Formats: sequence, structure tokens, C-alpha cells
Amino acid sequence: REGEGLRPQRLSDYIGQRKVKENLSVFIQAASTRGEALDHVLLYGPPGLGKTTLANIIAAEMGVSVRTTSGPAIERPGDLAAILTALEPRDVLFIDEIHRLSSATEEILYSAMEDGCLDIVIGKGPSARSIRLSLPPFTLVGATTRAGQLTSPLRDRFGVISRLEFYEVEDLKDIVLRAASILRLSITDDGAEEIARRSRGTPRVGNRLLKRVRDFALVWEGGAVTQTIAREALNRLDVDPEGLDQIDQKALKTIILTFAGGPVGLDTLAATIGEESITLEDVVEPFLLQMGFLQRTPRGRMATARAYQHLGYSLPQSRMDSV
Ligand code: ADE
Repeated sequence: REGEGLRPQRLSDYIGQRKVKENLSVFIQAASTRGEALDHVLLYGPPGLGKTTLANIIAAEMGVSVRTTSGPAIERPGDLAAILTALEPRDVLFIDEIHRLSSATEEILYSAMEDGCLDIVIGKGPSARSIRLSLPPFTLVGATTRAGQLTSPLRDRFGVISRLEFYEVEDLKDIVLRAASILRLSITDDGAEEIARRSRGTPRVGNRLLKRVRDFALVWEGGAVTQTIAREALNRLDVDPEGLDQIDQKALKTIILTFAGGPVGLDTLAATIGEESITLEDVVEPFLLQMGFLQRTPRGRMATARAYQHLGYSLPQSRMDSV
């Protein structure tokens, strides 16, 4: 998978998310000192901010193995039972998209997380009986785009709940410089900063843009990434100076041009731009909200004055007094 070799392996290589990192570091050290499994950890936040990376780092720091799966991949409770019973003591089980577990599967997780045991029903009808298996102590690391999508019984069973934030440009710049060094790519300081500024606050985007800019740099100039090359390459990739990509721009332009600035409902907007509502809500909107380009109101989404200005439209007279 793209970017695999760029992922930091240890907490000390992990850039940004300072609070999450510092707190995790304490909990990991404490659990290690006691010789216990780390308490269950829920990581939530927009995609591409490092949830999978952190799950792997937690395992590495604890000196244990990680078993990775995802909510949709676990079809039946028996699938989860098979995974849980195969864990070694203190192992990490990483479940990505944990909000998408079926409710039957989720229910067997409750006793596994809380009491370290698994209740399995054998047989059917009147002769059915339940047996209880005890599990090795383990750490569940769950990841989701929104903690609000989790049922509260599941959420309540995590001892550590960490929210990942969009990265500052300074941190992204360091991430881009680190990736360039791993790729043995020569890059100027302002070249790295230009890529960082246009990365939607997201390391995964930064690393992807770096690879594409590298291609332009190679073909145009035979090597080094400068700010001029980064700008020109990113303009060609339709990534604008604030980092908005084509979908971001389309969403905002549609609100402004088709819906007179809004408010427009999520599903209507999604259908108009040809994206899934879920993608719009979990991937596109969080960044636009954070940047102050989009506003969520009880009646729907609205483009802000800042969005009009950024995209070069003048604010309609009707909204002059409301903003
Ligand atoms: N690569 C992707 N995310 C990273 C991070 N947070 N720190 C260092 N390198 C990264």
C-alpha cells in the first residue's frame, strides 16, 4: 500500500498530535512497568491522520504483536471469536472502522473487553447452552471517523479515548521532510512548506502529494523539489493554495452557484456533486469546517463569506448583513 514505508514505527518518530502522543506514552510506560496489557484505546478523527499508524506504534512500544482487522471484515461473531482466541497475552487487536461491526459481533466484544471472556452459545433451541472461554489479556485499539457513530456501551468500554486533530502546517512540513529523506529526494525548505500547506492537514495527503510533485520535479528539472515546482505541480493536480482539492471545490461551488450559498441538506448536496453522503460527511466536510469555508446549520450546509472570497465570488446582497 502507498506510504507503507513512510510510516513511523515508534512514538519518537511520530510527528504532531502532541497531546495524544504524550498521554499514550505515559499509559504505555505504566502498563509495561506493571507487566499488564494496555487498557483499550479508541482513536477517532478524520481519515488519514494516523490511526492505523498509532495502533502499530502502540504494539511496537508494548513489545507485542498486532492483529489488524476492520468492522466490515468481521461478518459473524464466530469470526471475532476465532481472532480473539488466537491472541497472545498483551497483544494488540486493531479494529478499523469499528463503528461498522454488526450488533451481534459487538455484543461479544463487551464481555471480551470488560471481563476477558467470551460467551459462546452451542447448539440451538431448548438444548442450546452457553460456555464461557477465558481470553488472554489483550488491548483493543478501535478506530473510527466519528466517536458519535459508536454505541455508548462500546464507547464506554475504552479506557483511553483519543481524538486526532488535523495537523498544523509546521508538523506537516516536518512529515514531508521526513518522507523526502526516506525517499532520498532532494527538497528545499519552502518546497516542503508549500506541499504541507496544501495537504488538507493530513499526512496521508502530504505524502501522496510529495510523490506526485517528485514526478514533476524529475521530468521537468531532473530532480530537486523547489517551491516553484511544488506550486506548479500542485496547480496542475488541481490542489489549490489552501489545499482544497477538486471535490472540496466542487462542493463549495455547488453550494454557492446551485443553492445560492445554502442552506442545503447533506443528501441533496451529495447527490448533486455525485458523491456518497458518508464520504461527504466524513472525508470532505471536516476539513472545510475546520478551515471556516463551510458552516453546518440546523437547516443544512452553508458556504461562508470566506468560501465566497477564496473561490472568487462576490457575496450576494441578501447575505451582506447576515455575515
Ligand atoms: N507519516 C505519516 N504520518 C506521520 C506522522 N504523524 N509522523 C511522522 N511521519 C508520518
